[in-house]
Amino acid sequence: MQDDAALGETLTGDWQWARTDDWQPPSELAVDVPHPARMYDYYLGGKDNFAADREAAERIIAAVPHARLGARINREFLGRAVAYAAERGVRQFLDIGTGIPAVGSTSEVAQRVAPDARVVYVDNDPIVLTHARALLANHPVGYTTVIQADLRDPAAILDDPGLRQAIDLSQPVALMLVAVLHFIRDEEGAAEVVARLREALAPGSLLILSHGSQDFLTPAVVEAMTRVYSTASAPAVLRDRAAVAGFFGDFELLEPGLVQLPLWRTEGEALPDGWREVSAYAGVAVKP
Ligand SMILES: C[S@@+](CC[C@H](N)C(=O)[O-])C[C@H]1O[C@@H](n2cnc3c(N)ncnc32)[C@H](O)[C@@H]1O
Repeated sequence: MQDDAALGETLTGDWQWARTDDWQPPSELAVDVPHPARMYDYYLGGKDNFAADREAAERIIAAVPHARLGARINREFLGRAVAYAAERGVRQFLDIGTGIPAVGSTSEVAQRVAPDARVVYVDNDPIVLTHARALLANHPVGYTTVIQADLRDPAAILDDPGLRQAIDLSQPVALMLVAVLHFIRDEEGAAEVVARLREALAPGSLLILSHGSQDFLTPAVVEAMTRVYSTASAPAVLRDRAAVAGFFGDFELLEPGLVQLPLWRTEGEALPDGWREVSAYAGVAVKP
């Protein structure tokens, strides 16, 4: 790893504030095909989406009870899990399927707990990368870098010079696969991809994962949701609890285990109306 001072790509802790009004979409962007990153941005109330994304997201909101609440709760899970990992002493974060910059980002949360935390963001959507690059700041709060790569090619992620510069794989890493694996089909190697990433990590590393499921939805809602995402650039691949649990391999789930997303470490908190229909699982596990 290089010295922090020698590294250029560093983001501020709060991406929202650094946003510019004259931002233009990169030319390679297919703005007429709904994209999961921009649909998620729309659920969260963001501005970085196009008509096709908004139309598809509105069809999901009409079909899926509490779709927006689910996105918000997922984002809260991300923040809670990152803070938990940083408080356990993890100082390296590999966040694959980062999403468009939003409040409560991994770097913001991790570096608030531990300013020396190092964060690598990976996404396959050029809009995510463009935003992240546009927001590089002169006054870093910590080391953060961004890689454009596809989760379906884990070797390319692990061998990326940007990752190798930022992350020492002989030390624990928090691997984050938050609301991204449900865009990868079994036949695209979802299980093998996660196994390859798990293998590359040192003991004490964490896997932070959330995943959409059919388990809390009616078949009609599942059908409607799958239909809308079939028009998007990635499908919605809902999985049941056993399939999601399989992604953890031999990692040991930490308390409270693999649970319905709104229930991850929210004991004692008043959960919002509708939480029972948030159809996703979440868990954090450690590599023995
Ligand atoms: C629903 S968003 C989740 C964002 C963030 N992880 C969170 O939970 O708030 C899913 C993200 O995964 C990205 N993504 C989807 N398929 C991907 C793939 N094959 N490789 C890398 N990123 C992918 C999308 O571009 C999007 O930014």
